[in-house]
Amino acid sequence: EKGGYEHFMLKEIFEQPKSIHDTLRGRLLVEEGIIKMAGIWDNLERLNQAKKITIIACGTSWHAGLIGEYLIEEFARIPVEVEYASEFRYRNPIITEKDIVIAISQSGETADTMAAIKLAKERGAFVYGICNVVDSSIARVTDAGSYTHAGPEIGVASTKAFTAQLTILSLIALKLGKHNGQLSNQEFMRLITELDTIPQKVQEALESTHEITKEIAKNFVDAQNFLYLGRGYNFPAALEGALKLKEISYIHAEGYPAAEMKHGPIALIDENMPIVIIAPKQGHYDKIVSNVQEIKARKGKVIAVVNKGDTQVASVADYVIEIPETSECFSPIIASVPLQLLSYYVAVYRGNNVDQPRNLAKSVTVE
Ligand code: F6R
Repeated sequence: EKGGYEHFMLKEIFEQPKSIHDTLRGRLLVEEGIIKMAGIWDNLERLNQAKKITIIACGTSWHAGLIGEYLIEEFARIPVEVEYASEFRYRNPIITEKDIVIAISQSGETADTMAAIKLAKERGAFVYGICNVVDSSIARVTDAGSYTHAGPEIGVASTKAFTAQLTILSLIALKLGKHNGQLSNQEFMRLITELDTIPQKVQEALESTHEITKEIAKNFVDAQNFLYLGRGYNFPAALEGALKLKEISYIHAEGYPAAEMKHGPIALIDENMPIVIIAPKQGHYDKIVSNVQEIKARKGKVIAVVNKGDTQVASVADYVIEIPETSECFSPIIASVPLQLLSYYVAVYRGNNVDQPRNLAKSVTVE
């Protein structure tokens, strides 16, 4: 059932062109110029009149939520807060019947997320679910929702479910923005046309990054620490890259917004510190270039994820990984591919059980 792959995780990484395509199918209708999502359409007024949207989730799903915040605020101009479900449920949050809560969960069974939903519902909030497992507890308890059609995810480290969550959040943000007038029709059309190309670009990213990430990974088998840096939409992508590495390689890794480096983490940088930098053309590129220069001045080892044909970052980085260019808002989907592969190969070379890392469970049904 691993379809010729050595691990489920690698199979699931390679399934992403299909899982993203399946998540878009029947929803993104480029020729008609519409996004069809019954859960959003049926509750459009309520959603678009929300004073605030609170996204609750754990782990990787929480990282997807952070990108959801950028998407919804940029395109629908509705204020969004993202919270760890475990914090939300115990801190007496300000939630009323005027609130919208979006709960994100691959398994649909995470105990803290479930408890946070119950609390939000008790206070009268409208709860929208984004789940992967059909008919899961969270899918059943939410008022409305959209499934990510990623298919079963067996590897404990979430990969294809994450990119499917980003796909759904993109659809939701664009649909809300189109209907509440915050997004011009022209901009909406440009963005959905680009979103439609994402499965193909993910396929290209798999092809252009597989061998190189495997090679790069060999150099970092004995690393003790890693930093992951990104800006804008790729800051949460950096957090997710670091989480992937921690989970399966057991190497300590931290994600940071690149500009925060000088407020502390820069003290860690020496010739032994690997730093993964996500630096696509669209997305604060010039600022990232200066961050890379700051790191190189301190002899850090830079692994740069750049767009094809990049010269500026590529000329100073120690290792270069090229991905196809896309709009900034979709770039975390593409950038995730080499980060997943890098963590996979580092873990494989360390001899770890990548599909079932120590101490972790696929669904965390206890708090
Ligand atoms: C990371 C991972 C976990 C889950 C988290 C939430 O690879 O698998 O961090 O993302 O436990 O799980 P779900 O999405 O099932 O609620």
